[in-house]
Amino acid sequence: MQRKKIGHILAGSLVEGLTMRLEPDFPLEDIKTGKFVCIQGAHYRFFSLITDLELQVSHPDILLFPPSDDEKLLTSVIKKRDIYANVMLRPMLMLDQFGHRMPVKTIPAHFAHVYEATTQDVAEIFGDEKQEQKYFNVGVPLDMTTPVCIDLDRFIERSNGIFGKTGTGKTFITRLILAGLVKSEKAVSLIFDMHSEYGYQARKEGEGLAFVKGLKTLFPNKVALFSLDPESTRRRGCTPDLEVVLNFQDIRVDDVMPLQDELNLHPTALEAAYLIAGKYGNNWLQVLLDQESRLKEFAAEVGAHAESVGALHRKLKRLERFPFLQRGTDATKVIDRMIEYLDRGIHVILEFGNQTSMLCYLLVASIISRRIYDAYVSKTEKFLASQNKADQPRPLVIAIEEAHKFLNPTAAKQTIFGVIAREMRKYYATLLVVDQRPSGIDEEVISQIGTKIVAQLNDEKDIQAILTGVSNPAGLRSILATLDSKKQALVMGHAVPMPVVIKTREYDETFYKAMMPGVKEENIRKVIEEIF
Ligand SMILES: Nc1ncnc2c1ncn2[C@@H]1O[C@H](COP(=O)(O)OP(=O)(O)OP(=O)(O)O)[C@@H](O)[C@H]1O
Ligand SMILES: [Mg+2]
Repeated sequence: MQRKKIGHILAGSLVEGLTMRLEPDFPLEDIKTGKFVCIQGAHYRFFSLITDLELQVSHPDILLFPPSDDEKLLTSVIKKRDIYANVMLRPMLMLDQFGHRMPVKTIPAHFAHVYEATTQDVAEIFGDEKQEQKYFNVGVPLDMTTPVCIDLDRFIERSNGIFGKTGTGKTFITRLILAGLVKSEKAVSLIFDMHSEYGYQARKEGEGLAFVKGLKTLFPNKVALFSLDPESTRRRGCTPDLEVVLNFQDIRVDDVMPLQDELNLHPTALEAAYLIAGKYGNNWLQVLLDQESRLKEFAAEVGAHAESVGALHRKLKRLERFPFLQRGTDATKVIDRMIEYLDRGIHVILEFGNQTSMLCYLLVASIISRRIYDAYVSKTEKFLASQNKADQPRPLVIAIEEAHKFLNPTAAKQTIFGVIAREMRKYYATLLVVDQRPSGIDEEVISQIGTKIVAQLNDEKDIQAILTGVSNPAGLRSILATLDSKKQALVMGHAVPMPVVIKTREYDETFYKAMMPGVKEENIRKVIEEIF
């Protein structure tokens, strides 16, 4: 296939990136930041992203007396020699003659030719979904049509993040990737679905009232829907597989930790909580809530400050309003059911329905994740002891939206999510964090994130946070700053060989069909109709 030359290398360095002179007849406006190009060196091909563009002139006098529109000959002469455009490139990956990928450790020589990347280049670098099941198509490079794939095997090895400001398509791309995981059966996922967008259907902005299908609709047998607000789920015409009822006994002091901000809890109140738990164990919360009329005496009994106990009681009283929290003596079985499903390879979506308060989300996600953490730790220990392949835990991906609420610098040190982000990889569980404000997330957690998918971000602090730990961030910064406001993202990290800007894969009928191969279109309709 004939490659299209777009320019040649003039200058540059390994650290700062390279400068290319654009061919005089190549349309300047076809060159955009984030575009994917290939520099042909003597021994290597350097795959690079365009990071910046500038206009140049060979002599400043030309700018003093620019040719008029009528002076066509003069214009064409100076266009050949004296006015030109330079394009900044950042090499991200090099390939030798045998197609081996390696990190960029050298640079091409002067005047090396630069070409537009071809279909084969993209397939060679990012893999082909049709060839290997581990590849999952997430979109296409700018101005191209060949899919960019992420390597799902590598994706599930680390915690991952999807970032971008509101309305950029985070939820859509998260749903897309989760669908990829369900289809490939590489891992199971547990999705804390705060806005009920992953289960049966979700609103699509834009074209009037439109809906897209959720994961339960696409994979009815591989996804279970748990609901905290079954009424709301039913009102939307769907039936949850299980209604979630939790018990006051399920709540540990550690689960109240992430609620500090929401409840405005003082650290001394938490200390009091620990004292109560020290005495009453799992019943601590129920006992505390029952002390309405004798808080002072109760404080003295547990050896805590009366005011702290009073404040703790007053604030935790709010939890009694949650309909899904019930009193009782048995710890609930719902979480055990959830773990059973996950063990059988069935993905679990926990819908919050109208229980959309941050308080509820933080509390429930924390209770459940802590239990799952314990289960995974003991499963891994069992596997390490037996070394029997059958005991190996199935990798688990826990998806949370508004992740900075769980993973801000204070919470990350205290809550179960900080532990999962930092060390659960060893125990086969990782997080998929979805967030608008990466700057709110603890730096240590961000630095542990394997693959980042970053849509448009405007705040300098957020861009900075994304680029912590990235070498030579300058080029990527300009790419991030110029992303479209929707359906475009920079993908970088562990699951892709090099950073790349993509137009995200469309979540539509074509996608549904790809997720249900072997099923004829009319049958897909039937499956979908049966569910609704
Ligand atoms: N891959 C896609 N396929 C089809 N439509 C998309 C895609 N990505 C984004 N969109 C469109 O963009 C809209 C916003 O996307 P989405 O709801 O994912 O944003 P978000 O980043 O999750 O926003 P918020 O932070 O407010 O939750 C969608 O309603 C949809 O119309
Ligand atoms: Mg969203």
